[in-house]
Formats: sequence, structure tokens, C-alpha cells
Amino acid sequence: MLRNRRALALCLVAASALSACNKPHSESSAQEASEHVPVELTAAQKLALVAELPAPYSGGDIEHGKAVFMMCKTCHTLVEGGANMTGPNLWGIFGRKAGTAKDFAYSDGLKASGITWDTARMDSWIENPRAVIAGTKMSFVGLKDAKDRIDVIAYLKSETSPAK
Ligand code: HEC
Repeated sequence: MLRNRRALALCLVAASALSACNKPHSESSAQEASEHVPVELTAAQKLALVAELPAPYSGGDIEHGKAVFMMCKTCHTLVEGGANMTGPNLWGIFGRKAGTAKDFAYSDGLKASGITWDTARMDSWIENPRAVIAGTKMSFVGLKDAKDRIDVIAYLKSETSPAK
């Protein structure tokens, strides 16, 4: 009985020592993580970016586009320096030459396409990627609804561009 109590007391001391050690450690890793958090633009900054697009994309609904993007999100990140997943990171996609995300293994078709992404190219691409490049690796059925495409393009613009 006495021995058990002593063991318990030792455990308690050890546990409090451990938690004391853990504290500064978790604080410093939170600090490290915050250095990599991308800057979130304000709603006004996002609207200003979308307004630069030609009509009808300039009137796209960012919030609805975000919901539509759920379909793309399993394969694509948008933030600057974001990871390539099944698909390439899309930071800076408007005005970017197709097939140029760092360290992503594109299909030959996409690399040789000569496309520079603008709203019109993006619209046909997400409507039916295989109709644009037959051998593409992007296995996505396509968005048939024109408004879904307009809104997701507005959302993409607002999330993949630096603030003005
Ligand atoms: C199943 C995974 C998957 C889904 C879902 C998907 N993509 Fe892709 N995407 C890819 C892959 C893979 C590529 C590279 C294609 C190639 O190399 O032929 C790609 C390429 C692209 C490119 C060209 C990038 C570049 O650097 O040239 C754009 C733009 C794009 N996707 C946008 C979208 C959007 C917007 C959606 C949702 C509407 C979407 N994708 C859904 C996998 C996906």
C-alpha cells in the first residue's frame, strides 16, 4: 500500500515535469507555423481582383464559387507555395503558362498546349478538360452549369492572386 502511494506520487511529479517541458515546446511550434500562414485578403480586395476580369466573370459570386471549388479541392491547392496534390498548385494561374507549376509531372499534352490561362480558356477547360486536351491527366467530368463555371473562376481569381 505504502509502496503504491509512493509510485503514485512519483508519477504525479513526472507528469507535472513533462507538462512543464511541453509548454514552451508547443508555443514555439505554433509560432513557427504562423510564419507560413498565407495572408488572407479582405472581402474588398477580393472583389477588386474579380472586378478586373472580363464580363460575365467580373460579376461572379465568390461565395458560391467557393462551394463549387469543393469539387476541385481534393486535387488542387490555391495558396502561394501550396503543395501539388493529384493536380498542381494553382497560385497565380491567371496569366500563367499551362504546365509550369514547379515540380509537377504534367501530361505531355498539357505541356505542349501553348495555353496561357485566361477566363475563356479556363471556362472551356473546366467544362470539359478532355475536349481541350485529349490526353490530359485531369480526370474531372466537367462543370456543365455555366453559372457554376463563372462563379468558380471568380473564386479562383480571388484566391490565387496577390493583393493589388
Ligand atoms: C481528380 C483530380 C482533379 C480534379 C477534381 C480537378 N483537377 Fe484540375 N488538374 C488535375 C490534374 C492531374 C491536372 C494536370 C493535367 C495534365 O497534366 O494534363 C490538372 C490541371 C489543372 C489546371 C491547369 C494547371 C496548369 O498549371 O496548367 C487547371 C487550371 C485546373 N486543373 C483547374 C481545376 C479546377 C478549377 C477544378 C474544379 C472545377 C479542377 N481542376 C478539378 C487534377 C484535378
